[in-house]
Amino acid sequence: MQGKHNIYNIRRVRICGSYIITGGKKLEGEISASGSKNASLPILAASILNNGITKLYNVPNIHDTKVMIEILRNLGCKVKRVRDKIVIDSREVKKYEIPEELMRKMRSSVILAGALIGRFKNATFCCPGGCDIGARPIDLHLKAFENLGINITKNTGYIHCTCDTIVGEKIHLDFPSVGATQNAMLVAVLAKGTTIISNAAMEPEIVDLQNFLNKMGAKITGAGTKEITIKGVEKLNNTGYKVMPDRIEAGTLLCAVATTGGKVRLNKVVPEHLTPVLEKLKECGCEIEEEKDAVILQAPKKLKAVDIKTMPYPGFPTDMQAIFVSLLCTAKGTSIITENIFENRYKYTNELKRMGAKIMVEGRTAIIKGTRKLNKAVVEATDLRGGAALILAALNASGKTEVNNIEYILRGYENLDQKLNALGAKITKEVR
Ligand code: UD1
Repeated sequence: MQGKHNIYNIRRVRICGSYIITGGKKLEGEISASGSKNASLPILAASILNNGITKLYNVPNIHDTKVMIEILRNLGCKVKRVRDKIVIDSREVKKYEIPEELMRKMRSSVILAGALIGRFKNATFCCPGGCDIGARPIDLHLKAFENLGINITKNTGYIHCTCDTIVGEKIHLDFPSVGATQNAMLVAVLAKGTTIISNAAMEPEIVDLQNFLNKMGAKITGAGTKEITIKGVEKLNNTGYKVMPDRIEAGTLLCAVATTGGKVRLNKVVPEHLTPVLEKLKECGCEIEEEKDAVILQAPKKLKAVDIKTMPYPGFPTDMQAIFVSLLCTAKGTSIITENIFENRYKYTNELKRMGAKIMVEGRTAIIKGTRKLNKAVVEATDLRGGAALILAALNASGKTEVNNIEYILRGYENLDQKLNALGAKITKEVR
């Protein structure tokens, strides 16, 4: 371990502010999705594995990618950003400890542990922060590390991981955790021998990480299925890679249009990644056309209620749960939502109720009785997707709604206000 805790001079990337949204405008037009947040974060972290230079394209310029870049710089990487291109020079990394202040800012910081262990066989970090949507332990990550022969000790809130050699092994995940699958992949890339991860997460972001690592010289197969095989290689090479489109942002934009009864052509998406979301939108009454890298949506006059159960991919994504709850607040009929991934992901519903939504939450279930109209209110974002859900509700409400705490929304959405305004919304941002 190097240096003492809490002595880092870290530039804060924090904006406090509000969106003022005048509701009742029908959204129409053509926009594009940004690069994926959840693919960019592990890929940025994975760049550390290469003792060289990595160029990444289509990385969204959002709070979470800024924090990841801050951590990479703090560890010794040189990082340059020109619009959506990021160049990372990781030849000078000399520190294996992730500062507590940065670690607590974002859940995805935990993925850096796998990259540091993979390259240096050494990492020190504390439990990560992130949105408050449940306990979010990291036991599955640590169990996967231990399977690969990593020694783990815990001391004054810090977790220290070291080993002499990383030897490929079989890893069975009790639950297909996205982060644990990614962390295990990163540790195994430069290991001796072959690692097989069973009950792996199958999310498209895992496939994107595999594609990036393979372009850098790794030998990984099976991402997108339940079993991933990683044949250890001795060394990686410099590469360039374009990150996949953001399927959750895409789903949010489609739902925003649907809730206003509008029409949109959404470009730069992978329609296949959106299947569970598009199927539910069709059930709600939307007409949907898919092209190679675009989706066209025409909303009905009145949406219909639907029931949803969140599941690991290819099931309905938990990250779209709040967005759909918002949409269903004014749908015809009663919807039942079951949240199966995170145990505390309905906090935002109290804010929707302030706008007149009829939602009853019991444990993991939310029952939504569609109402004719939502009212303006002053509301607070409580987490990233819950914050986006409030924007959708405001687009559909009468009068001017003020959404506060937008720093949660800025964590994960690139220019959401500008994209919606380009479709005819009336959103102004007030930064304090
Ligand atoms: C990732 C996504 C997040 C998404 C989630 C589920 C990123 C940056 N974030 O988060 O947007 O909502 O997948 O699709 O990609 N769990 C444990 N122990 C562990 C790890 C996870 O019990 O060690 C539990 C979690 O508490 C949760 C469930 O497993 O209940 C799923 O978590 P996981 O798939 O790991 O989500 P993240 O990778 O954190």
